Amino acid sequence: MTESVTPPHALPKGKRILSGVQPTGILHLGNYLGALRQHLALQDANDARYFIADYHSLNTVFEAESRRSHAREIALAYLSLGLDPARAILYRQSDVPEVAELTWILATLTPMGLLERAHAYKDALANGRSADVGLFLYPVLMAADILIHRADCVPVGQDQKQHIEIARDLAVKFNLRYGEVLHLPEPLILPDVGVVPGTDGRKMSKSYQNTIEMFAPERDLKKQIMGIVTDSTPVDQPKNPEVALFQLWKLFATPEEWAELRERLLKGGVGYGDIKKDLFARVLAHFATARARREELAKRPSDVEDVLRDGAKRVREQVGPLVDQVRSVCGVGPISR
Ligand code: ADP
Ligand code: TRP
Repeated sequence: MTESVTPPHALPKGKRILSGVQPTGILHLGNYLGALRQHLALQDANDARYFIADYHSLNTVFEAESRRSHAREIALAYLSLGLDPARAILYRQSDVPEVAELTWILATLTPMGLLERAHAYKDALANGRSADVGLFLYPVLMAADILIHRADCVPVGQDQKQHIEIARDLAVKFNLRYGEVLHLPEPLILPDVGVVPGTDGRKMSKSYQNTIEMFAPERDLKKQIMGIVTDSTPVDQPKNPEVALFQLWKLFATPEEWAELRERLLKGGVGYGDIKKDLFARVLAHFATARARREELAKRPSDVEDVLRDGAKRVREQVGPLVDQVRSVCGVGPISR
C-alpha cells in the first residue's frame, strides 16, 4: 500500500474496541476510509473485535444469498486489508447467540420513548415506511453487541453516536435494577476523513449508487472513477478544488501533492480526465496488495469460514462469564445460585 493516504489521528491504546459492519452492500471507499481503515489501525495496540452484523441486516436485506455474499465480502475485505486473526477477533454476529439473549433482557428495561427518538426508526417513519419491531429494536440489539464485550471504545461514524448513547443508557438502567454488572462504553468518533464524496458529489453511499468499490474488477473500478461527475470547464480554465473528483484525489495524495495540485487547479491548465486517470492509478496502487490477497482468499472460502468460526468461539469463551453473571443477577436460569 502507498503511504499517501493520511494516517489516522491519535488512536487509543490498551482498550477493548468493538465495532460491527452490516452486510447490506458492496464495500466502497467511504466504508474503507470512514471505518475499516481505522478498525485495522486499532488492532495494533488494543484488544480489537469486529463483527459482521448479519442479524442487523435482516431489517433491510431480504435475500439470503445477498446477505451471505455481502458477509463474505466483509470478511474478505478485513482479512485482505490486514486484519490479523492472531491479534484481533473477526466474527459473525449470528454465531454468538448470547447477543440475542442479552437483547431480550435489555429490551425489558428499555423505555419505548428512548427508541421512538432513535434516528433509524424516525427516518423510516419520515419516509413513509412502516417500521417493523426489528427496526424499532435495532438500538437494543446494538447495545447488546457492545455491552456483551464490556467494550471501552466503539469506533463509529457520527451517525451512530446516538446508538452508543442508548447503549450507555441501557447499561445504567440495568445496573440500577440488578447491580453493577455492565460497563459503559465510549463512542470513538473517527474524525479523519469526514464524509467521503461519491461520484455524484453527494456522500458516497450504496443508497445513492455513487460508490467506488475498491475490490471491483479493474474494468469496473475504472468505469466508476472515470464516471465521477465533472462539469464542462475547458482544460485551460481554473477549476474548483472542492469538487468530488479533487477531494477524492486528495484522499490518496500527500499534503504536499495536494498543495501543488490545488495551486495548478486555481491557475488553470488541468484537465478532469487526467486527474481521473491518475486517481484510478493511485487507487489501484493503494489497494494492489489487498486486491491480490482478496483474490487468493476468495479461492479458499473454507479458510475464511474457519477464521469466523474461530473468532466466534473465542468471543463466546470471553463473554461467557458476563452472560452467566447477567443471568444470575436477573435470576433467570438455575433456581439456586
Ligand atoms: P452506506 O452509506 O453505503 O449505506 P453504511 O451506512 O453501511 O454505508 O456505512 C458503514 C460504515 O462506513 C459506517 O461506519 C460509516 O460511517 C462509514 N461510511 C459509509 N459511507 C461513508 C462516507 N461516504 N464517508 C465516510 N464514512 C462512510
Ligand atoms: N449500526 C452499525 C452501522 O449501521 C453497525 C453496528 C451494529 C455496530 N452493531 C454495532 C457498530 C456495534 C458498532 C458497534 O454502521
